[in-house]
Amino acid sequence: MTLLVITTSDRGTEFAEAARHHAAGLDVRLWPDVGNPADIHAALAWLPPKGVLAMLPNLKLMVSVGAGVDHLLSDPGLPDVPLVRYVDPDLTGRMAEYVGLQVLFHQRRMAEFIELQRQSRWEYLPEPAANEVRVGIMGLGVMGRAAIDVLRPFGFQLRGWSRTPKAIDGVACFAGTGDLDTFLAETDILVCLLPATPDTRGLLDARLLAGLSRTGRSARLPGPVLINAGRGSLQVEADILGALNEQTLYAASLDVFEVEPLPQASPLWRHPRVVVTPHNAAESTADAIARYFIRQVRDMAEGRPLENLVDRSRGY
Ligand SMILES: NC(=O)c1ccc[n+]([C@@H]2O[C@H](COP(=O)([O-])OP(=O)(O)OC[C@H]3O[C@@H](n4cnc5c(N)ncnc54)[C@H](OP(=O)(O)O)[C@@H]3O)[C@@H](O)[C@H]2O)c1
Repeated sequence: MTLLVITTSDRGTEFAEAARHHAAGLDVRLWPDVGNPADIHAALAWLPPKGVLAMLPNLKLMVSVGAGVDHLLSDPGLPDVPLVRYVDPDLTGRMAEYVGLQVLFHQRRMAEFIELQRQSRWEYLPEPAANEVRVGIMGLGVMGRAAIDVLRPFGFQLRGWSRTPKAIDGVACFAGTGDLDTFLAETDILVCLLPATPDTRGLLDARLLAGLSRTGRSARLPGPVLINAGRGSLQVEADILGALNEQTLYAASLDVFEVEPLPQASPLWRHPRVVVTPHNAAESTADAIARYFIRQVRDMAEGRPLENLVDRSRGY
C-alpha cells in the first residue's frame, strides 16, 4: 500500500512525516516526488494542483485535510473514487473555541474597548447580557453543533439555519431559503459555518446583511455582527465593508476571504471593528490529521465502512 501526500501549502513535509510516523510499514510519498503514479492507492490532499489526482490510475481513496472539500471538488478531473473529509475532535474543538471567542468579543464590545485603551480613555460602554443576544448559526453540521454547545452555557438565545430541517434542544431551527429571512430577522450575531457550494456562493451579501435584526432585545449592542469561519466564497467583501461603513453592520470577525491570503490593499485589514484571522479558526495538527488519514486507509484496506464520506451531488 503506497500513500501520497499532495498539497501546494507549506505543510506538506509536516503531513508526510506525521503520516510516516502513524503508517508503520506503508510507503508514504510527498508530491511532487510521486515515483510511479500507478503505485499510489490513497492520497491525503490539501489545495492540490488541479489534474494531479487524475494522474493516479490505481487511486482508491482521497482524504481531505480540511472539513471543507471545495478545494477538491473544484478540480474538473477529480477521480471518481471515495472522498472522505476530515472530522476530528481536534478540529471541532478549535472551531468551538474560535466561535466562543468571537461571539463573546463582540457581545462585550471588545473592539471598542481596545480602541479606548489605545487612547488611554477610561470609559464605560453599555453591554448586553448574553441572554439578551440572539446568536444565529448558519450550518448545523459538525461545526455548527460544536459552536452551539460552547455558546449554550452563557445563555445566548440560539437559532440555527440549515438546508434540511433539524430539531436541536434549546435552539430555534430554520431550514432552506424559505426560512432564511425569518432566521435573519431574529439574529443579532450571525455565525456562518457553511460549506462552499454553488448554492452558498455570495450568500453573505448586502441583502442578507440588511435582513439582520436591528431592533431586538439586545438593543444595547450597537448593531448586528457577522462572524464567518465557513469559506471566503460565501462573502461579498465589498458589501460587508459597505454595511460596516453605513453601520448596517456593527462589527465582523472574518477568518476566510474571497482571496487568500487577504491582499494587503484590502481595507478589512485596517477597519477598527473587523477582526481578521488567517483561515486558522480550526487549524488541526499534522499529527491528528495523519492519524485520521491512516485510520481511513486501514478501514478501506480491511473492508470497514468509511467515515465522513462526501456527497458530491450536494457539494459537501
Ligand atoms: N475556517 C476554518 O478553519 C474551517 C475549519 C473547518 C471547517 N470550516 C468550514 O466549515 C464548513 C462546515 O463544516 P462542517 O464539518 O460543520 O460541515 P457539515 O457537517 O457537512 O455541515 C454543513 C452544514 O451546512 C448546511 N448547509 C449546506 N449547504 C447549505 C445550504 N445551501 N443552505 C443551508 N444550509 C446548508 C448543512 O445542512 P444539512 O444539515 O441540512 O445538510 C449542514 O448543516 C466546512 O465546509 C468548511 O468550509 C472552516
